[in-house]
Amino acid sequence: MKRTIVSLPGDGIGKTVLPEAIRVLGAIGFDAEYVHGDIGWDFWRTEGNALPQRTIELLEKYKIGLFGAITSKPKDAAAKELDPSLKDKGFVYFSPIVSLRQRFNLDICLRPCQSFKGNPLNFIRRSADGGFEEPIVDTVIFRQNTEGLYAGVEWTNPPKVVRDALETHPKMKFFNNVPSEDLAVSTRIVSRSASRRILSAAFEYAKKHGYKNLTLCEKPNVLRETSGMMFKEARAIAKDYPGIALWDTNIDAQMMWLTKNPENYGVIVAENMFGDIISDGFAGLVGGLGFACSANIGEEVAVFEPTHGSAPKYQELNPSIVNPIAMILSACMMLDHIGESEKAAKIKSAIAKVIAEGKVKTYDMMKLKGGPDVFSKGACTTQQMTDEIIRNL
Ligand code: NAI
Ligand code: MG
Repeated sequence: MKRTIVSLPGDGIGKTVLPEAIRVLGAIGFDAEYVHGDIGWDFWRTEGNALPQRTIELLEKYKIGLFGAITSKPKDAAAKELDPSLKDKGFVYFSPIVSLRQRFNLDICLRPCQSFKGNPLNFIRRSADGGFEEPIVDTVIFRQNTEGLYAGVEWTNPPKVVRDALETHPKMKFFNNVPSEDLAVSTRIVSRSASRRILSAAFEYAKKHGYKNLTLCEKPNVLRETSGMMFKEARAIAKDYPGIALWDTNIDAQMMWLTKNPENYGVIVAENMFGDIISDGFAGLVGGLGFACSANIGEEVAVFEPTHGSAPKYQELNPSIVNPIAMILSACMMLDHIGESEKAAKIKSAIAKVIAEGKVKTYDMMKLKGGPDVFSKGACTTQQMTDEIIRNL
């Protein structure tokens, strides 16, 4: 069956890397039609909306989006760049990624952090004999994508009803003398249903892919209520997965463990902000932004994207220097999601071969400072990397 995929290149290098992923999908024989969806800065400037309704409708219809990256700026900077005809008409900039997550309740964010053998950017550790070890990292982070500390329920100078409600809590006595205008509050809201959904998805994933442990990375000794609820749910769900050990770590300790023994961790589940932190930490062990892929999965719609942004400082470079692998791996996640795992595995093994051979490398893999001169130092172009992956398919 021919699939229809909504292609959302967005801004900057999103426009460069997305066509590369589509080229690889074509080369592996994935039979799809791509419909273009407008998203990003141009549409904010010219229409006052970085995520136009027509793009939402495409995703409602076709359910699967392949997304590059967008440029995002703070509200005031955004307002300045709005087309003069739209100024002072009440348009307020809002990140289209956050809008997408909220509109389609893309509550599960999946970020695999898996090292490829031979990647010069892999984490290494000094061994006792003075040599070094290069443990294979294979960790998959499940980040709750819609709630927690990023849910957006916050105030500076909270209204009186909010202040009054807070004061019913005994610990508010420490803030008794702080006037409301000097008080900022961000809430961490966790629901049982969303916790169950992400934990169940993570356990299922661990079972399907043969991971032996699932770690809930929270802070239940301090965040007794929110982390506490997640942990309680994790223990209940774990009973249905006797082959998978449930571990718990505190977010702070986890940041230390990931630099000491990252190879011990299989699947990790965390609330929104903790998941954001921990996934960047693990991504750094397996090559960083050029390799970090992700999926945002809701009950109906799913959007696949590299973790990196639009890298404006490189968008004008021609030929392009950026690494397309994060985008291509995101396309593999899409294939996995729609039941084309065999094709995904073939693409991943072609990427693995190119990296192991080590002849074709983008500038980041050579630890070079980005710029037009990287080619003279032996780096390949974005397109050459894709060509080499396709040659190895
Ligand atoms: P960025 O991820 O765009 O770039 C940071 C640096 O990482 C780049 O300067 C480059 O050195 C490196 N890099 C990124 N992608 C790479 C690739 N494929 N290959 C090799 N090196 C790569 O983050 P930055 O500069 O903080 O933000 C730029 C814009 O992107 C901002 O407007 C920001 O809001 C937006 N952004 C969008 C995201 C998204 O669309 N999901 C995520 C992060 C930032
Ligand atoms: Mg982040």
